[in-house]
Amino acid sequence: MLASAFAGHAGAQISPGPLAKAHAELEGSLNCTKCHGTRKSEMNGACLACHKEIAALREADRGYHARDAKGSCASCHPDHAGAGFALIKWPDGSAQRFDHRKAGYALEGKHAEAECTACHRAKFRSGEIADLSPRKRGAGWVGLEQTCTSCHEDPHAKALGANCVRCHDLKGWKPAPRFDHDSTSYPLTGKHADVKCERCHATEKLAPASIP
Ligand code: HEC
Ligand code: HEC
Ligand code: HEC
Ligand code: HEC
Ligand code: HEC
Ligand code: HEC
Ligand code: HEC
Repeated sequence: MLASAFAGHAGAQISPGPLAKAHAELEGSLNCTKCHGTRKSEMNGACLACHKEIAALREADRGYHARDAKGSCASCHPDHAGAGFALIKWPDGSAQRFDHRKAGYALEGKHAEAECTACHRAKFRSGEIADLSPRKRGAGWVGLEQTCTSCHEDPHAKALGANCVRCHDLKGWKPAPRFDHDSTSYPLTGKHADVKCERCHATEKLAPASIP
């Protein structure tokens, strides 16, 4: 199989060197085709057969791999350079300098001040992409969703719906700047306009169930 895999590369059955630590489990001659496929041109397909999370992101036109990193896997992730070799090379030199818009998700307001690891942590990895990832160590960079409630608790217990930005922005939860009582079915007119919220809404969380 490998002879055809590396047509033109005499003696190519010999690995050019140890794989990166993340791929250590793929060491050995039985695993060559798992990355190389049966022809060099099929390497992308071979990587994606295991990295289904990257395939799914590209399919959904989401994330960095559906944008600037649309190219061939090996052009950015070469291998065989030893266990200590970093498979990931950041486009702007380091993770800290990564322009998050390249992931198709701009960091705005308080999100722009948050540490990468405040969001990129195992606890917030949820949904289909996270489930498809073969990653066992650490949170990595893939597997987060944009839905507010994938990271934030909803103190209104779903009573006000899932569209948080109908009332909130990214500067802070209090106040809720996009909320206008007069656009509800119960505008606050006359004396009601001077009444403290809590006097009508029994709890601070403003769940309508508590509205007398
Ligand atoms: C974890 C994935 C992976 C596994 C497993 C793997 N390789 Fe590779 N290999 C690569 C990548 C990535 C490159 C870089 C390809 C490139 O630059 O186009 C590469 C390059 C090579 C090259 C140089 C090819 C060229 O076109 O310059 C040879 C030879 C090679 N591998 C042989 C092997 C052999 C033999 C095995 C099994 C013992 C093996 N590889 C297993 C990922 C892998
Ligand atoms: C048989 C499954 C398998 C194949 C095939 C495979 N990988 Fe991986 N790869 C993994 C696993 C598992 C991890 C995560 C290991 C961990 O938990 O740290 C990983 C991690 C990675 C990482 C992240 C490394 C890091 O330091 O965070 C990159 C990048 C990567 N693979 C690229 C590739 C590329 C490119 C190919 C094809 C040449 C490939 N992989 C083929 C299983 C695979
Ligand atoms: C407020 C939360 C938040 C912070 C802070 C954050 N990210 Fe993200 N990041 C996300 C979300 C959500 C996604 C998923 C976007 C999508 O797939 O639609 C993402 C996706 C990414 C991706 C794309 C992965 C891929 O291959 O598709 C990279 C890379 C990334 N973030 C790096 C960083 C780095 C580096 C930092 C710190 C400088 C950082 N992020 C800070 C929420 C955050
Ligand atoms: C233009 C360069 C580029 C190309 C092309 C590219 N990647 Fe990446 N890849 C990166 C960078 C940078 C990161 C780290 C940030 C991120 O996760 O997006 C990364 C991260 C990853 C990760 C780690 C995800 C995690 O869990 O943290 C995997 C797996 C991966 N790439 C696989 C692939 C595969 C498979 C292909 C080919 C289909 C590919 N990449 C093509 C640059 C690239
Ligand atoms: C991937 C995780 C993630 C997603 C998705 C996310 N956030 Fe955040 N958000 C954070 C983290 C982490 C912080 C900073 C730490 C904190 O205050 O919780 C933050 C901070 C905030 C803050 C500032 C809180 C404060 O008290 O300073 C607001 C407001 C906010 N997010 C609103 C939203 C809204 C609205 C959405 C949906 C449109 C959203 N977030 C989606 C993770 C996320
Ligand atoms: C119909 C408008 C509306 C919607 C939709 C809404 N909120 Fe609120 N939220 C409010 C109001 C009003 C407050 C009280 C603001 C104040 O005290 O200044 C509030 C307060 C909060 C607070 C602060 C609670 C506290 O006691 O500290 C958080 C956190 C919050 N909302 C999260 C969310 C999340 C997450 C979602 C989406 C699942 C959401 N909200 C949807 C109107 C809304
Ligand atoms: C005079 C009594 C009264 C006062 C004072 C009052 N509310 Fe309400 N509020 C209501 C009633 C009644 C409803 C139900 C309207 C409806 O079902 O559409 C409501 C609905 C809401 C809703 C849900 C809107 C939605 O889209 O579902 C929010 C959020 C809310 N009020 C927040 C506040 C806040 C914040 C204050 C203080 C600035 C406040 N309310 C003061 C009576 C009051």
